[in-house]
Amino acid sequence: MEVKKMAEFKRHRRLRQSANMRALVRETYVHIDDLIYPLFITEEENVKTEISSMPGIYQFSIDRLQEELDEVQALGIKSVLLFGIPKEKDECGTQAFHDHGIVQEGIKYIKANYPEMVVIADTCLCEYTSHGHCGVIEAGRVLNDESLELLVKAAVSQAAAGADIIAPSNMMDGFVAAIRKGLDEAGFLDVPIMSYGVKYASAFYGPFREAADSTPQFGDRKAYQMDPANRLEAFREAESDVVEGADFLIVKPGLPYLDIVRDMKNEWNLPIVTYNVSGEYSMVKAAAKNGWIDEDRIIMETMISMKRAGADLIITYFAKDVARMLKEQ
Ligand code: PBG
Ligand code: ZN
Repeated sequence: MEVKKMAEFKRHRRLRQSANMRALVRETYVHIDDLIYPLFITEEENVKTEISSMPGIYQFSIDRLQEELDEVQALGIKSVLLFGIPKEKDECGTQAFHDHGIVQEGIKYIKANYPEMVVIADTCLCEYTSHGHCGVIEAGRVLNDESLELLVKAAVSQAAAGADIIAPSNMMDGFVAAIRKGLDEAGFLDVPIMSYGVKYASAFYGPFREAADSTPQFGDRKAYQMDPANRLEAFREAESDVVEGADFLIVKPGLPYLDIVRDMKNEWNLPIVTYNVSGEYSMVKAAAKNGWIDEDRIIMETMISMKRAGADLIITYFAKDVARMLKEQ
């Protein structure tokens, strides 16, 4: 049969013909070293409680952490991000900077038993304050500079407990400068800061607040976290963090903010981290439970999208699933 010569056009499908051909031209990969796994540690005994809105994610007491960490380590995950759930809360979040606070004890336990594990400490007050805000309150407002003093104390106590990286998520102005100065003065010159510098006031944090018991008791976080409508503001926030000495920059949430990830990757030359937050996790789990989506494929596509947008690292509750899939490949 004679084939008529077609008008000139490009045949892109040539490079998609087979799995091996596609592998040859693949541009983006997810690597096990890119993953950071969050852990919720509760100040109780013999507790492993599943978070109802986050199936597969648990609050652990320190005496039950081993089962989780053995698995995490065996899967090849090399870093964890710790959140503490204290027994007692007060106006100032005192337990956030107590030498024997839950996060400080959790850090000591992990560094003693899994010395190679990179332990990242989330530095905030909202899990520790009775009102659930990320700083101290006066007349219904979160005070900036007064909160900084407490956050610096929290960061220093976490570093003293052995944290490898400090990750402040509070969104007070000047937190990177204040924490850098505090760490340096306490002798922790080599402890890096992974700043949640670009953090939006997002409904995607909903399930986390159940997990960490950190729901604000009044109002919301819009007076300190960023407006989801703003892009240029991300450049301003990031610039101050970079100038103040951040070592890593987190953009948060993840999937709905990948335009900002790309902007930050293009603008700065420090490692960009995306936080695939609780709401993003819960939505996938809920849809998968209903049989509406292919969970594994959705997870990998999400990870690839984050890497393609420019994220160097991904904080994700899916880390164990991703690790398993990478092993199977
Ligand atoms: C604490 C903090 C939050 C998250 C990380 N650190 C909650 C918040 O700001 O309300 C959200 C993480 C997630 O949703 O997975 N400031
Ligand atoms: Zn907070």
